[in-house]
Amino acid sequence: MAEFALPANSKIRPGANYPAPAGAKRTKIFKIYRWNPDDGQTPSLDEYEVDLDRCGPMVLDALIHIKSDVDSTLTFRRSCREGICGSCSMNIDGVNTLACLKATEEVKGDVRIYPLPHMPVVKDLVPDLTHVYAQYSSIKPWLQAQTPPPPDRERPQSPEERAKLDGLYECILCFCCSTSCPSYWWNGDRFLGPAILLQAYRWIADSRDEMTGERLDALQDPFRLYRCHTIMNCTKSCPKGLNPAKAIAEIKKLMVERL
Ligand code: SF4
Ligand code: SF4
Ligand code: FES
Repeated sequence: MAEFALPANSKIRPGANYPAPAGAKRTKIFKIYRWNPDDGQTPSLDEYEVDLDRCGPMVLDALIHIKSDVDSTLTFRRSCREGICGSCSMNIDGVNTLACLKATEEVKGDVRIYPLPHMPVVKDLVPDLTHVYAQYSSIKPWLQAQTPPPPDRERPQSPEERAKLDGLYECILCFCCSTSCPSYWWNGDRFLGPAILLQAYRWIADSRDEMTGERLDALQDPFRLYRCHTIMNCTKSCPKGLNPAKAIAEIKKLMVERL
């Protein structure tokens, strides 16, 4: 579940090899997918023997160490380094996760790192998120209301109404879930996938939003919502512990209730 293995006929070639500096006592091999759109080469798996005493404990620390001290051409996204921005998502040891939340010592043996599966790659570990962000935009991820807000304060919401957003607002759009979903792999051009559907439900569930009917209408389609077959990879892979499969089930329930 949520795992990604290279196919037997993979065209990934063995790449460069960077040994640890002399005298390193605690080392670990990082095997990292490399692809440069500008050099005309097929992708490679480069090997870096990292001195663990020269970097922090997380996989992202090792990647930053490699880029700063060993090979500045290695390309990956990161920003917050504390599981908030969602930009360091990648496939580590066969599982989609955030590099900044994955401890190197949790990985037995070599650390294999690939970009998120089934996404176009911009370079090395950087997936092209153009399509998935267009899908995000399509669900209108903002509050829509025709009633004007009170003149002197924000729109009110009871504690119970606010609690309905727990487990939804925490999503950081890392796309670990969508890229572990087989339905999204095969139908990602039209199926919105778990990340975007969880976001859609975040606005459907918001008591202040007045476009619930329109939002459900927009999802009433054989592909956008109903390509989810409840395989549950999405929930298993979410590094924030969220449950996109449940959010999708809630949308489907609302669809039935309004028939
Ligand atoms: S539950 Fe739905 S969205 Fe989640 S992995 Fe399965 S098919 Fe994909
Ligand atoms: S639901 Fe979880 S895995 Fe999916 S995009 Fe949001 S934070 Fe990432
Ligand atoms: S760097 Fe922001 S989530 Fe990992």
